[in-house]
Amino acid sequence: MYQYTEFDKQFVRSRASQFRDQLERWQAGKLAEEEFRPLRLQNGWYVQRFAPMLRIAVPYGELNSAQLRVLATIARDYDHKEDNDLSKANPGLSDLKSLPSRCAHFTTRQNVQFNWIPLDKSADVMDLLASVNMHGIQTSGNCIRNTTSDERAGVAIDEVADPRPLAEIIRQWSTLHPEFAFLPRKFKIAITGATDDRAATAWHDVGLHVLKNEAGEIGFRVMVGGGMGRTPVVGTVIREFLPWNQILNYLEAVVRVYNRWGRRDNIYKARIKILVKAEGQRYIDEVEAEYQQILTHDGAPHTISQQELDRVSASFVVPASRVGTLPLSAMPIPTIDPADTNYPRWLARNVAPHKNPALRCVTLSFKRLGYSPGDATGEQLDIAADLADRYSAGEARVTHDQNLVLPWVRADELPALYAEAHAAGLAKANVRLLTDMIVCPGGDFCALANARSLPISEAISQRYQDLDELHDLGEIDVHMSGCINSCGHHHSAHIGILGVDKDGQEWYQVTLGGSDGSDLSGAAGAGKVVGPSFAAAEVPEVIEAVLDTYRSVRQSAGDKAETFIDTLRRVGHDPFKQAANAARTSTGRAAPQAATAA
Ligand code: HEM
Ligand code: SF4
Repeated sequence: MYQYTEFDKQFVRSRASQFRDQLERWQAGKLAEEEFRPLRLQNGWYVQRFAPMLRIAVPYGELNSAQLRVLATIARDYDHKEDNDLSKANPGLSDLKSLPSRCAHFTTRQNVQFNWIPLDKSADVMDLLASVNMHGIQTSGNCIRNTTSDERAGVAIDEVADPRPLAEIIRQWSTLHPEFAFLPRKFKIAITGATDDRAATAWHDVGLHVLKNEAGEIGFRVMVGGGMGRTPVVGTVIREFLPWNQILNYLEAVVRVYNRWGRRDNIYKARIKILVKAEGQRYIDEVEAEYQQILTHDGAPHTISQQELDRVSASFVVPASRVGTLPLSAMPIPTIDPADTNYPRWLARNVAPHKNPALRCVTLSFKRLGYSPGDATGEQLDIAADLADRYSAGEARVTHDQNLVLPWVRADELPALYAEAHAAGLAKANVRLLTDMIVCPGGDFCALANARSLPISEAISQRYQDLDELHDLGEIDVHMSGCINSCGHHHSAHIGILGVDKDGQEWYQVTLGGSDGSDLSGAAGAGKVVGPSFAAAEVPEVIEAVLDTYRSVRQSAGDKAETFIDTLRRVGHDPFKQAANAARTSTGRAAPQAATAA
């Protein structure tokens, strides 16, 4: 993984001590609340429904075991519900007692969040993070946020080129870029080098897809203006092929034009997707003109030299113990109980091939009953760190789907890894199955939520615990957001669930047929609404009705059943909508309306 330079380390440490000084001045009354607020936000400290929320940047999702251990310490020693003065909090949608604490949370943007760290401990936490080169800079605010990537970057077998050196170059260019510190709205870039898009690039402000042209040169397909929220928009391809060394000059043009024309007058229209949608070709032409200006007038200042790419690439060190054909491991191979049906399924679902045929890429599942999707306790983070050390050259990756990947696992050590991950509850064989849901914190933590998402995901998971059934249902993306901001990416789900507010009550809108742009789901697109929203208690019934419909109409080819999304596309939405609306119980009277609304 990337080796930070002394400059990076020093910078993060000095930023942490600068933050301590700011915090102390605020505590002493020398900085007013409104003066401190932007300073804490610039370091990732939001204040939510009950307590501060800290968002930590994890560049392209890469974590080493030392970082995992520091996250474990923070979860254990600082993420305490009871250390907050909750008497001042507005409980709103959630009941305080049931809320998880002492956890870190993996997000869809490959970051990590904590929900309960009191502000008076924030400087101590920043120092701890800085000790392992971590920080929360640019995890908030209208700037270029952390660039995300494929969780299998650098090891995936379907990779055209490793996107991490370019992601790292983008990180260096975008962090604290003075011209782009106050954009009309926040700005998110995703980059993938693989043919299968595991980074949902079409749903980002800028999506970069590495490809090779006919001459064998490496470049990018550039998409701009994707995003979810109130208006889901799939990014527009504005360049079919941009030579790789031009990426910063071109991004500079893309962001400059947005900075100039983005709708600062209206927060709901301020994202770049609205500009691209409204201006269409005019936006593209202007980017092209700006790019030409950068090339000819400014002298193409950000052209990346081969030498620079080589220098950064060399910092992504392939662990020495993982090079070449590996001799058999000295580790004792545990025997897996032949009655453990989870093991062969785990091999099939949670273990992916690797560029090095002696290695595998293994997903530790953080989707299990009793825990919110993507939540990891201090103990689990320590276990993940130990597993990373013993089986993955000390490295893990946060995935867009809120799990952790170990990218350097020896094939002969899979049984040993399985045995330990299983004992820790992290080996559920459910990757990309129904219970591997993407879920935002919703009304339990988020001040903007209309409804809770965590109890709904728990109820659905409860119902689908049977592994035979889960595997029979096959790959299905279920995503859930507590409000239209769409942090849980519900628009791109095969089955999406969105919390909506009606008369101050929690309701849920269900969508079908969305796609994140992966090979499984096909071209990126937003799902369609089933009908009027459902009561909380109805949601698991609705999911079941939709899935039963799938099972009754799907076709089989050999021993392979047609997937949910393929079936939905073949037969259309109607049978699914009808089944969903027939599952209404308490909102039954709304059903006839559904038929007309749909
Ligand atoms: C409680 C803390 C959170 C707050 C207050 C929050 C707030 C927001 C807001 C206001 C937006 C919409 C911004 C816009 O459209 O300009 C947004 C979008 C987003 N958030 Fe969050 N969020 C939170 C937690 C999370 C978490 C935990 C995740 C990941 C699981 C997440 C992932 C995202 C993503 C991916 C988007 C972009 C959706 C898009 O494509 O437009 N957020 N968030
Ligand atoms: S989707 Fe809404 S409820 Fe969920 S985290 Fe984002 S802002 Fe909060």
